[in-house]
Amino acid sequence: MKTDVLPVNAASIEKAASLIRAGEVVAFPTETVYGLGADAGNNDAVLRIFAAKDRPADNPLICHVASKRGFAPLVSSVPKLAAALIEAFWPGPLTLVFPKSAAVPDAVTAGLSTVAVRMPSHPAALALIEAAGCPVAAPSANRSTRPSPTTASHVLADLDGRIPLILDGGPALFGVESTVVDVNGGVPTILRPGGLTLEMLREIVPDILVDRSALSPLRDGAEARSPGMRHRHYAPRAKVVVVRGGARLAREMRARYAAAVARGGRPLILCRSDNAARYDGLSVYPLGGNAPEMAARLFDALRAADDAGYDLILAEAAGTDGIGLALMNRLLRAADFDIVDA
Ligand code: TXA
Ligand code: MG
Repeated sequence: MKTDVLPVNAASIEKAASLIRAGEVVAFPTETVYGLGADAGNNDAVLRIFAAKDRPADNPLICHVASKRGFAPLVSSVPKLAAALIEAFWPGPLTLVFPKSAAVPDAVTAGLSTVAVRMPSHPAALALIEAAGCPVAAPSANRSTRPSPTTASHVLADLDGRIPLILDGGPALFGVESTVVDVNGGVPTILRPGGLTLEMLREIVPDILVDRSALSPLRDGAEARSPGMRHRHYAPRAKVVVVRGGARLAREMRARYAAAVARGGRPLILCRSDNAARYDGLSVYPLGGNAPEMAARLFDALRAADDAGYDLILAEAAGTDGIGLALMNRLLRAADFDIVDA
């Protein structure tokens, strides 16, 4: 199959929408990462998403809707807190988990009794869902286990020849996926930290918790509340080590870098831009000057490291305030929780 890459405009949106109506899959930009979408009501179309990504069938998808009420046919009831969160944060990087209705095929929810829904804020995503005329089930548009795509070329690198169309809307604004929240009884919980911060969620739900899987590996035998957290994620081919520390951070990073070079390895440093000067003469990818910039560039950095043949990524740990929580969640998963203190 030939994969077309088209800039977002009225004609390409219509082409993408007609593919979705015909039961095909299409990659499209959102404000978080690129998604790989299909008609959420069409079980066969949804199965095509899993095939294109090599995604394990037990990892459920998010349904994307184009209005604050568009989720109604997908759910069997609406918890009070969900209504308040929708009012406050949709459209935007917030995914809510609802009890599902019979209209949602099993392929979407991997057989769960709940369904995840979000209304993205990216105008191209909204226009596409609107034109398709159905909720659009879409995971991130990467091959399973690879870092999520934040540009159309990331999608092409993973899915060329496997899907008919990629809509190119430029680099994603947030660069990390949406925040997934469960408000179905029990204590409201963030299952996956993402573009919408804990601090913002607390303004509406003061007692909201963060699932321990955000920053820790699952305990042996423990059930993941978000099935995605079971799977290895965001992993480049290079080994990733996260280094945490204050005054000794740069010294520890340089020592590990030198040891890798002595072993014949090819290390790359990911750091805050203000710290780049401390690694003068070494291979460095400065992520940005603040957490939002760093989050937006993380997945590009992981992919760029692989493309350039680095075999070790030494990443400075970030603070966990604001979007830093999502940034550290993705970094730790890429590192398979290999974090060391300087
Ligand atoms: O920003 C995003 O959320 C992007 C864009 C394309 O919207 N999508 C995305 O989808 O990141 P995906 O499939 O890569 O991640 C979906 C996450 C997974 O961790 C999955 O386990 C969780 O949402 N999820 C989906 N349905 C769920 C459910 N019923 N209960 C709990 N978690 C669910
Ligand atoms: Mg994903």
